Amino acid sequence: MAGVNAGYRIRPMTEFDVPAVMGLERAMFPDDAWTEDMVRSELAEPSRHYFVACRGAGRGDGGEGEGPVVAYAGLRAVPPQGDVQTIAVDRDWWGRGIGRALLTEVLGQAYTHGVEEVFLEVRSDNPRAQELYRRFGFAEIGVRRRYYRGGVDAIVMRCQEPAAAIAATGGGEQGEALEFGDAADGDDGSGEEEKA
Ligand SMILES: CC(C)(COP(=O)(O)OP(=O)(O)OC[C@H]1O[C@@H](n2cnc3c(N)ncnc32)[C@H](O)[C@@H]1OP(=O)(O)O)[C@@H](O)C(=O)NCCC(=O)NCCS
Repeated sequence: MAGVNAGYRIRPMTEFDVPAVMGLERAMFPDDAWTEDMVRSELAEPSRHYFVACRGAGRGDGGEGEGPVVAYAGLRAVPPQGDVQTIAVDRDWWGRGIGRALLTEVLGQAYTHGVEEVFLEVRSDNPRAQELYRRFGFAEIGVRRRYYRGGVDAIVMRCQEPAAAIAATGGGEQGEALEFGDAADGDDGSGEEEKA
Protein backbone atom coordinates (compact mmCIF):
# COMPACT_ATOMS: atom_id res chain seq x y z
CA MET A 1 0.00 0.00 0.00
CA ALA A 2 3.00 2.27 -0.28
CA GLY A 3 1.47 4.31 -3.05
CA VAL A 4 -1.66 5.08 -1.12
CA ASN A 5 -0.02 5.85 2.19
CA ALA A 6 2.57 8.07 0.60
CA GLY A 7 -0.12 10.23 -0.98
CA TYR A 8 0.18 9.33 -4.63
CA ARG A 9 -1.47 7.01 -7.07
CA ILE A 10 -0.33 5.43 -10.29
CA ARG A 11 -2.49 5.36 -13.40
CA PRO A 12 -2.01 5.09 -17.17
CA MET A 13 -0.68 8.24 -18.81
CA THR A 14 -2.95 10.04 -21.27
CA GLU A 15 -2.40 12.85 -23.75
CA PHE A 16 -3.71 15.28 -21.14
CA ASP A 17 -0.67 14.49 -19.00
CA VAL A 18 1.79 15.51 -21.71
CA PRO A 19 2.30 19.14 -20.57
CA ALA A 20 3.00 18.06 -16.99
CA VAL A 21 5.25 15.25 -18.14
CA MET A 22 7.16 17.65 -20.38
CA GLY A 23 7.79 19.92 -17.41
CA LEU A 24 9.28 17.02 -15.49
CA GLU A 25 11.15 15.75 -18.55
CA ARG A 26 12.96 19.07 -19.04
CA ALA A 27 13.76 19.36 -15.34
CA MET A 28 14.96 15.77 -14.91
CA PHE A 29 16.85 15.42 -18.19
CA PRO A 30 18.26 18.89 -18.89
CA ASP A 31 20.87 17.56 -21.32
CA ASP A 32 18.77 15.15 -23.33
CA ALA A 33 15.09 15.85 -22.79
CA TRP A 34 12.65 14.33 -25.24
CA THR A 35 10.59 16.78 -27.29
CA GLU A 36 6.83 16.95 -26.90
CA ASP A 37 6.46 15.30 -30.31
CA MET A 38 8.59 12.39 -29.14
CA VAL A 39 6.47 11.94 -26.03
CA ARG A 40 3.25 12.11 -28.04
CA SER A 41 4.48 9.60 -30.58
CA GLU A 42 5.51 7.25 -27.78
CA LEU A 43 1.99 7.49 -26.35
CA ALA A 44 0.49 6.74 -29.75
CA GLU A 45 2.52 3.56 -30.22
CA PRO A 46 0.49 0.44 -29.39
CA SER A 47 3.57 -1.31 -28.02
CA ARG A 48 4.18 1.41 -25.44
CA HIS A 49 2.70 1.45 -21.95
CA TYR A 50 3.14 4.69 -20.03
CA PHE A 51 2.13 5.52 -16.48
CA VAL A 52 2.11 8.55 -14.25
CA ALA A 53 2.13 8.96 -10.50
CA CYS A 54 -0.12 11.76 -9.25
CA ARG A 55 -0.31 13.44 -5.90
CA GLY A 56 -3.44 12.73 -3.98
CA ALA A 57 -4.73 9.26 -3.26
CA GLY A 58 -8.13 9.54 -4.88
CA ARG A 59 -9.86 6.22 -4.97
CA GLY A 60 -11.38 4.71 -8.06
CA ASP A 61 -10.50 5.90 -11.51
CA GLY A 62 -12.43 9.14 -11.77
CA GLY A 63 -9.46 11.28 -10.95
CA GLU A 64 -11.40 12.98 -8.17
CA GLY A 65 -9.03 14.51 -5.68
CA GLU A 66 -6.10 13.84 -7.96
CA GLY A 67 -3.18 16.21 -7.69
CA PRO A 68 -0.38 17.06 -10.09
CA VAL A 69 1.72 14.52 -11.91
CA VAL A 70 4.95 13.90 -9.98
CA ALA A 71 6.44 11.02 -11.92
CA TYR A 72 6.15 8.96 -15.08
CA ALA A 73 7.57 5.86 -16.69
CA GLY A 74 7.18 3.94 -19.91
CA LEU A 75 7.65 0.46 -21.29
CA ARG A 76 8.18 -0.75 -24.83
CA ALA A 77 6.80 -4.27 -25.03
CA VAL A 78 7.62 -6.34 -28.08
CA PRO A 79 7.47 -9.88 -26.71
CA PRO A 80 9.58 -11.64 -25.75
CA GLN A 81 11.63 -8.50 -25.19
CA GLY A 82 10.89 -5.16 -23.65
CA ASP A 83 12.62 -1.92 -22.73
CA VAL A 84 12.17 0.55 -19.94
CA GLN A 85 11.92 3.64 -22.13
CA THR A 86 12.10 6.17 -19.34
CA ILE A 87 11.41 6.76 -15.68
CA ALA A 88 11.55 9.99 -13.73
CA VAL A 89 10.29 11.33 -10.42
CA ASP A 90 9.95 15.00 -9.43
CA ARG A 91 13.00 15.77 -7.34
CA ASP A 92 10.83 16.91 -4.41
CA TRP A 93 9.38 13.41 -4.32
CA TRP A 94 12.56 11.36 -4.50
CA GLY A 95 13.16 8.75 -1.84
CA ARG A 96 9.50 7.99 -1.14
CA GLY A 97 9.27 4.79 -3.13
CA ILE A 98 7.63 6.27 -6.23
CA GLY A 99 10.43 5.13 -8.51
CA ARG A 100 10.13 1.65 -7.06
CA ALA A 101 6.34 1.66 -7.47
CA LEU A 102 6.56 2.81 -11.10
CA LEU A 103 9.19 0.22 -11.93
CA THR A 104 6.99 -2.42 -10.33
CA GLU A 105 4.14 -1.27 -12.55
CA VAL A 106 6.30 -1.30 -15.66
CA LEU A 107 7.66 -4.77 -14.97
CA GLY A 108 4.14 -5.97 -14.20
CA GLN A 109 3.06 -4.69 -17.58
CA ALA A 110 6.02 -6.43 -19.17
CA TYR A 111 4.96 -9.71 -17.63
CA THR A 112 1.32 -9.17 -18.62
CA HIS A 113 2.36 -8.61 -22.23
CA GLY A 114 4.52 -11.69 -22.43
CA VAL A 115 7.87 -9.98 -22.14
CA GLU A 116 10.49 -12.36 -20.81
CA GLU A 117 13.46 -10.04 -20.57
CA VAL A 118 13.55 -6.29 -20.08
CA PHE A 119 16.42 -4.05 -21.14
CA LEU A 120 17.34 -0.48 -20.34
CA GLU A 121 20.12 2.02 -20.71
CA VAL A 122 21.25 4.19 -17.85
CA ARG A 123 23.87 6.90 -17.68
CA SER A 124 27.12 5.74 -16.17
CA ASP A 125 27.03 8.84 -13.93
CA ASN A 126 23.61 7.97 -12.47
CA PRO A 127 24.27 5.66 -9.49
CA ARG A 128 20.87 6.33 -7.96
CA ALA A 129 18.97 4.91 -10.92
CA GLN A 130 21.46 2.06 -11.30
CA GLU A 131 20.88 1.04 -7.69
CA LEU A 132 17.13 1.12 -8.19
CA TYR A 133 17.45 -1.16 -11.22
CA ARG A 134 19.82 -3.55 -9.45
CA ARG A 135 17.29 -4.00 -6.69
CA PHE A 136 14.87 -5.22 -9.33
CA GLY A 137 17.34 -7.77 -10.62
CA PHE A 138 18.71 -5.77 -13.54
CA ALA A 139 22.30 -6.75 -14.28
CA GLU A 140 24.85 -4.92 -16.38
CA ILE A 141 25.38 -6.61 -19.74
CA GLY A 142 27.34 -4.00 -21.65
CA VAL A 143 28.34 -0.41 -22.20
CA ARG A 144 27.53 1.94 -25.07
CA ARG A 145 30.41 4.35 -25.24
CA ARG A 146 29.50 8.05 -25.44
CA TYR A 147 25.82 7.20 -25.94
CA TYR A 148 24.54 10.36 -24.29
CA ARG A 149 25.07 13.96 -25.19
CA GLY A 150 28.26 15.22 -23.61
CA GLY A 151 30.01 11.92 -24.19
CA VAL A 152 28.60 10.04 -21.19
CA ASP A 153 28.52 6.25 -21.50
CA ALA A 154 25.32 4.23 -21.24
CA ILE A 155 25.29 1.09 -19.15
CA VAL A 156 23.01 -1.52 -20.69
CA MET A 157 21.13 -3.58 -18.14
CA ARG A 158 18.85 -6.57 -18.45
CA CYS A 159 16.21 -8.05 -16.16
CA GLN A 160 15.31 -11.63 -16.86
CA GLU A 161 11.98 -12.88 -15.57
CA PRO A 162 10.29 -9.59 -14.66
CA ALA A 163 7.65 -11.33 -12.55
CA ALA A 164 10.32 -12.88 -10.36
CA ALA A 165 11.97 -9.48 -10.04
CA ILE A 166 8.77 -7.95 -8.71
CA ALA A 167 8.26 -10.80 -6.27
CA ALA A 168 11.82 -10.42 -5.01
CA THR A 169 11.22 -6.76 -4.22
CA GLY A 170 7.96 -7.27 -2.37
CA GLY A 171 5.47 -7.23 -5.23
CA GLY A 172 2.44 -5.77 -3.48
CA GLU A 173 4.04 -2.33 -3.24
CA GLN A 174 1.76 -0.98 -5.93
CA GLY A 175 -1.12 -0.50 -3.51
CA GLU A 176 -4.84 -0.60 -3.98
CA ALA A 177 -5.01 2.48 -6.17
CA LEU A 178 -2.89 0.91 -8.87
CA GLU A 179 -4.50 0.37 -12.23
CA PHE A 180 -3.40 -1.84 -15.04
CA GLY A 181 -5.15 0.15 -17.72
CA ASP A 182 -4.09 -0.59 -21.25
CA ALA A 183 -5.44 0.74 -24.47
CA ALA A 184 -2.89 -1.00 -26.56
CA ASP A 185 -3.03 -3.79 -29.04
CA GLY A 186 -1.00 -4.32 -32.15
CA ASP A 187 2.48 -4.23 -33.47
CA ASP A 188 5.41 -2.13 -32.56
CA GLY A 189 6.18 0.63 -34.98
CA SER A 190 9.69 1.78 -34.44
CA GLY A 191 11.73 4.08 -32.30
CA GLU A 192 14.91 3.15 -30.58
CA GLU A 193 15.21 6.25 -28.44
CA GLU A 194 15.42 5.31 -24.81
CA LYS A 195 15.87 7.46 -21.77
CA ALA A 196 16.30 4.55 -19.44
C1 LIG B 1 16.01 7.31 -10.30
C2 LIG B 1 14.67 7.83 -9.77
C3 LIG B 1 13.59 7.49 -10.78
C4 LIG B 1 14.37 7.14 -8.43
O1 LIG B 1 13.09 7.60 -8.00
P1 LIG B 1 12.70 7.61 -6.43
O2 LIG B 1 11.24 7.81 -6.34
O3 LIG B 1 13.56 8.55 -5.69
O4 LIG B 1 13.07 6.13 -6.03
P2 LIG B 1 12.63 5.36 -4.71
O5 LIG B 1 12.29 6.30 -3.62
O6 LIG B 1 11.60 4.37 -5.11
O7 LIG B 1 13.96 4.63 -4.37
C5 LIG B 1 14.22 3.49 -5.06
C6 LIG B 1 15.62 3.04 -4.81
O8 LIG B 1 16.53 3.96 -5.35
C7 LIG B 1 17.74 3.79 -4.64
N1 LIG B 1 18.06 4.99 -3.95
C8 LIG B 1 17.25 5.82 -3.28
N2 LIG B 1 17.96 6.83 -2.79
C9 LIG B 1 19.24 6.63 -3.16
C10 LIG B 1 20.44 7.33 -2.97
N3 LIG B 1 20.49 8.48 -2.29
N4 LIG B 1 21.58 6.83 -3.51
C11 LIG B 1 21.54 5.68 -4.21
N5 LIG B 1 20.43 4.98 -4.42
C12 LIG B 1 19.30 5.44 -3.90
C13 LIG B 1 17.52 2.76 -3.62
O9 LIG B 1 17.81 1.52 -4.16
C14 LIG B 1 16.06 2.90 -3.38
O10 LIG B 1 15.51 1.81 -2.79
P3 LIG B 1 15.20 1.88 -1.20
O11 LIG B 1 14.22 3.01 -1.00
O12 LIG B 1 14.61 0.54 -0.92
O13 LIG B 1 16.50 2.13 -0.50
C15 LIG B 1 14.74 9.36 -9.49
O14 LIG B 1 15.86 9.62 -8.71
C16 LIG B 1 14.79 10.21 -10.75
O15 LIG B 1 13.77 10.59 -11.31
N6 LIG B 1 16.01 10.57 -11.22
C17 LIG B 1 16.14 11.49 -12.37
C18 LIG B 1 15.71 10.83 -13.66
C19 LIG B 1 16.52 9.60 -13.92
O16 LIG B 1 17.71 9.57 -13.71
N7 LIG B 1 15.83 8.53 -14.39
C20 LIG B 1 16.49 7.30 -14.73
C21 LIG B 1 16.85 7.29 -16.19
S1 LIG B 1 17.77 5.83 -16.59
